[in-house]
Amino acid sequence: MLKGQKALVTGANSGIGKATAIALGRAGADVVVNYVAGREDAEKVVAEIASFGVRAAAYEADVSNEEQVVAMLDRMIQEFGTIDILVANAGLQRDAPFTEMTLAQWQKVLDVNLTGQFLCAREATKEFLRRGVVPEVSSAAGKIICMSSVHQLIPWAGHANYASSKGGLQMMMQTLAQELAPKKVRVNAVAPGAVKTPINRSAWETPEAQEDLLRLIPYKRIGDPEDIANAVVGLSSDLMDYVVGTTLYVDGGMTLFPGFATGG
Ligand code: BGC
Repeated sequence: MLKGQKALVTGANSGIGKATAIALGRAGADVVVNYVAGREDAEKVVAEIASFGVRAAAYEADVSNEEQVVAMLDRMIQEFGTIDILVANAGLQRDAPFTEMTLAQWQKVLDVNLTGQFLCAREATKEFLRRGVVPEVSSAAGKIICMSSVHQLIPWAGHANYASSKGGLQMMMQTLAQELAPKKVRVNAVAPGAVKTPINRSAWETPEAQEDLLRLIPYKRIGDPEDIANAVVGLSSDLMDYVVGTTLYVDGGMTLFPGFATGG
């Protein structure tokens, strides 16, 4: 489905990024696996992707560092020829009650989750526009998938920095989509709900936590990273060529106000 396309997935050494990089490789794309720490894990992801007969490589870069992002894209263009798909996925949490939240915690989350996506999207877009559409490869000049969250919509006490970063991301994604659509660059977002990854271990690792969490999920299943990866593959492919500026919620219904299933 993505044969001949070159994809970059940030934060691809674990969690949703890892599953997404693998799924893109399985769908035929060559994949750059970005990581900031955890080289060994990134190399394992690369080996798994390479076993599908496509090309893969691990690149270290901090997405919130402009110089490193520019260097990463330069290197990808040199070694892979171009970029067709950017999955701006790298993200983190630094949770704290509001009055205890330090400026450093606020800044770190905004830097990685929002500025990091800005920098990666900007550098990838420069290459999309330089190269333009290559019809044998894709109907679009490039595709950007922003990894958002249900918390671009759902306020989240104790996570003011994280929810703000994702809320900001929604408007960035829509604005880029509007600005770049005439140039044939498709920008969309995937908004996962609760997915079993290291970022939210405390929300699913004990039976009590699981029970609490499942109350927020009408579909009564915690998501797997592959649920998100499959959505990203779909949005990246020409099957979804007319999907522009949309957020695809992949959340088992978490955004359906489950508290209102009874009452109200
Ligand atoms: C957060 C997780 C959380 C999920 C649902 C995600 O964006 O990173 O920690 O479990 O949203 O609340």
